[in-house]
Amino acid sequence: MRKPLSKIAVIGCGVIGASWAAYFLAKGFSVAATDPGHNAESSLSKWIHAFWPSLEKQGLAPEASLDNLVFSTDLHSTVKNALFIQENGPERLDIKHSLIAAIEEAALPDTLIASSSSGLLVSDMQSGAKHPERIVLGHPFNPPHLIPLVEVVGGKLTSPETIERALEFYRSIDKKPIHIRREVKGHVANRLQAALWKEAFHLVDQGVISVADLDTAISSGPGLRWALLGPFLNLHLSGGEGGIEHLLEHLGPPIEDWWADLGQVSLTAHTNKKIIDGVRQELALHDETLMRQQRDKLLVSLLQMKKDSDQLP
Ligand SMILES: NC(=O)c1ccc[n+]([C@@H]2O[C@H](COP(=O)([O-])OP(=O)(O)OC[C@H]3O[C@@H](n4cnc5c(N)ncnc54)[C@H](O)[C@@H]3O)[C@@H](O)[C@H]2O)c1
Repeated sequence: MRKPLSKIAVIGCGVIGASWAAYFLAKGFSVAATDPGHNAESSLSKWIHAFWPSLEKQGLAPEASLDNLVFSTDLHSTVKNALFIQENGPERLDIKHSLIAAIEEAALPDTLIASSSSGLLVSDMQSGAKHPERIVLGHPFNPPHLIPLVEVVGGKLTSPETIERALEFYRSIDKKPIHIRREVKGHVANRLQAALWKEAFHLVDQGVISVADLDTAISSGPGLRWALLGPFLNLHLSGGEGGIEHLLEHLGPPIEDWWADLGQVSLTAHTNKKIIDGVRQELALHDETLMRQQRDKLLVSLLQMKKDSDQLP
């Protein structure tokens, strides 16, 4: 007799939940999904079918099948006996609280509950829970069915064992989880993006560069290397034989000068108009649908090439 597949519960099937559901199916789990939204079941099915070809390209687990999806508007039956619960409901603390309370009524007491929340703190989400020690952040990058990064953070009441189990679970399904050791607003990767966006908006606002040239500065410059190695390893390689020590000695002082010169910017109507006009001009040269398709196709190829390279972290 065929062994039943382990079940993952996906709560909330919008942009993020649908993508997680597709990924879990591709990894050979049975997926129980719930969402009270109008047409949620048909929209989930539409999204999963759209994501499936790129998941097939990445390689499906032997047991993977679209038939392993069960949708229900009943949250209790969705989480019952689940091995892992990925929560992707709306980004509001009151909703997260009521979702966690409902999950706890039916889930096994030690099943991990990982929230995808981009901005809420686990410490706030877990307050009032019966078993707060098993609640953790599992923050993906959009779209979770393609991007490997998952940020794992515990709240004040999360147990160290939960953090370990969450990291282990995500590793076991070929994600690249990182452990953030202290809760900070926006977690880590979005803070890094925000730092770059701030200077990008500032430089365009000050007329130093056009929107299109700024995009090229990243996509044809450091962005190419950043997809392969992070900022610190890239700095080390830029230091030549002397590595990071030489780099810091030699380029440390100018880097500090640049830091001191970085700009402040606010998203005023005037600044926003400059950015919007610049993006529209840039888009006039491209077919947006093809651009998105080509980006996702190249991303899948890049992920495959990274997988085949054993010396890249
Ligand atoms: N969109 C992103 O780029 C992104 C990236 C990473 C993480 N996140 C996080 O993921 C979570 C979901 O964001 P999203 O962008 O998918 O939002 P979304 O609005 O696309 O989806 C939210 C879904 O939750 C459903 N929902 C509402 N009440 C519910 C309930 N009681 N039970 C179950 N489902 C319910 C809605 O019907 C909707 O389908 C948020 O916490 C967000 O911060 C979003």
